[in-house]
Amino acid sequence: MNSSNHSKPESLADLRKSYEQGELDEAMAANEPLSQFKQWLDHALASRVPEPNAMTVATVGADGRPSTRIVLIKSYDERGIVWFTNYQSRKGQELAIHPFAALQFHWVELERVVRIEGRVEKVSDEESDAYFHSRPLDSRLGAWASPQSQVISSRGVLVANAAKAAVQHGLNPARPPHWGGYRLVPERWEFWQGRKSRLHDRLSYRLQADGQWLKERLAP
Ligand SMILES: Cc1cc2nc3c(=O)[nH]c(=O)nc-3n(C[C@H](O)[C@H](O)[C@H](O)COP(=O)(O)O)c2cc1C
Repeated sequence: MNSSNHSKPESLADLRKSYEQGELDEAMAANEPLSQFKQWLDHALASRVPEPNAMTVATVGADGRPSTRIVLIKSYDERGIVWFTNYQSRKGQELAIHPFAALQFHWVELERVVRIEGRVEKVSDEESDAYFHSRPLDSRLGAWASPQSQVISSRGVLVANAAKAAVQHGLNPARPPHWGGYRLVPERWEFWQGRKSRLHDRLSYRLQADGQWLKERLAP
């Protein structure tokens, strides 16, 4: 890759920008975090920001140590936020032991972040089947071909696995038993809007015992 046209900033310590795209206050924010999320996600989609559906998922290992990776949100509703993956992956193994996660969207151009935390459960087999069968054939075969997160000796292993999967499963592969969806059931949300002079807006929503959401402003 030729990067000779790009000049690198002198120092990371001097790299800063002013956030001035928007604001978020208690009165304008929805009473329910899900409707606030819908507004912001719809806005991100309409604004054509790159990969508006990409979110970081943080899990915790058996050793108590966190790890993160990016996945794509595939649906959301009052039950929670859904993504799909390999249940035997590192995140799958961590969720099997410690079924809690934190999600984060960062819409850079909009100077917005959404954080969501809660318990994670597997979606129903029907839901995983329905989404699996909506995927392109190469992605469906890829789910069979890739032992996600395991050490492999070379890229050739993947290519060989994919060819084998195509022969074994043909044009209509079933969903692998180790592949499916997770749903995070939110207990806590935060909406961050960058503001001038580092006086950012942060609104937190916490689920109360009576099922209501408590909306609070956090210091930036
Ligand atoms: C934009 C983007 C979207 C991704 N979407 C998914 C996804 O929906 N599901 C998935 O399993 N991995 C997805 N990945 C790959 C993951 O980031 C990660 O490499 C993989 O899930 C293995 O993570 P783990 O070893 O921590 O389990 C995506 C990566 C990127 C960069």
